[in-house]
Amino acid sequence: MLAQAQSLVFPFYRQPTPGYGFECIYAVDADIRVLTSVTTDELYGDLAHSGVVIYRDFGDTLQDFNDFVSAHSSRVTFDPARKTSTANTAEIDAGFHEMGLHRENGNLPFNPDIQWFFCLEAAAVGSETTMCDGQKVLFDLSAKTRKLFESRDIKYSRRIPWSNVKRFLSVELQIPFEKITDEHLEVVNREVPGQTHRRVDQNLIHSQLIIPAVEISCFSGRKAFCNSMLGPSVNYEPPRITSENGDEISLDIWDEVKDVTSRNTYSHFWNKGDIVVIDNTRVMHGRRRLDDPSRRIFGAQSYSKWKWCRQIPA
Ligand SMILES: [Fe+2]
Repeated sequence: MLAQAQSLVFPFYRQPTPGYGFECIYAVDADIRVLTSVTTDELYGDLAHSGVVIYRDFGDTLQDFNDFVSAHSSRVTFDPARKTSTANTAEIDAGFHEMGLHRENGNLPFNPDIQWFFCLEAAAVGSETTMCDGQKVLFDLSAKTRKLFESRDIKYSRRIPWSNVKRFLSVELQIPFEKITDEHLEVVNREVPGQTHRRVDQNLIHSQLIIPAVEISCFSGRKAFCNSMLGPSVNYEPPRITSENGDEISLDIWDEVKDVTSRNTYSHFWNKGDIVVIDNTRVMHGRRRLDDPSRRIFGAQSYSKWKWCRQIPA
């Protein structure tokens, strides 16, 4: 009797992932949609608390997911290497290999605040999405390593095809693709601290980004080890990653980063209809080996509606 009365009052309930504390919210009834159940303040409050929100057993369609992303973002962007599938989302096709933990677009000059995922078809086995809370990683690193990353930025250097750079700048600067020229590379070089583009030839742009490995979460306001040091480069040349002055990062430090992040990595096994929202300024994500290619996941990236979010000094 009591359980019934409670389920009427609470159409969904929370069960944080054991050991990791990511917010996991279950619908009591599949008629309930995330789109019509959650306000921006509630979503952002959960992100501030937990870094990740997982919605399960709700009845949202792909279009609902698209609208959900719009409703809680100031602006939606795309990964320039992916094919667009709805107005705001793109189906993810990132090969079969395991994909390392990364901050979305973490080695590009513009990083979205929020990463969104929707599961249209679940895998029968494996293929989990991985998530790692950079606030916990920072806490677990040795004092020496933490101080190193807090006192020195890291540098990503690599060459990117001009067509990919053009697509990326077209989305981020909101300028039509065919209007992007070398002048826009110069604008970004001037406006984005740490970013330097240099033309190699008609096909390639050399990109160098100097950026902190430790970010301040724009939702929680706390420091987090959040970067793309371990990230994949499915669609691009892998970057060379060094200290800001060009010094190699020692193998001991790399070993510690791999060890501490893997200890703090949660693997999310998808159910059809799951929606996952990630604070991209705090939590890194990746994927286990793709064991079932029939799995279909859609993703989106966007900026927060909280204006102060962009103004927290680094
Ligand atoms: Fe990603």
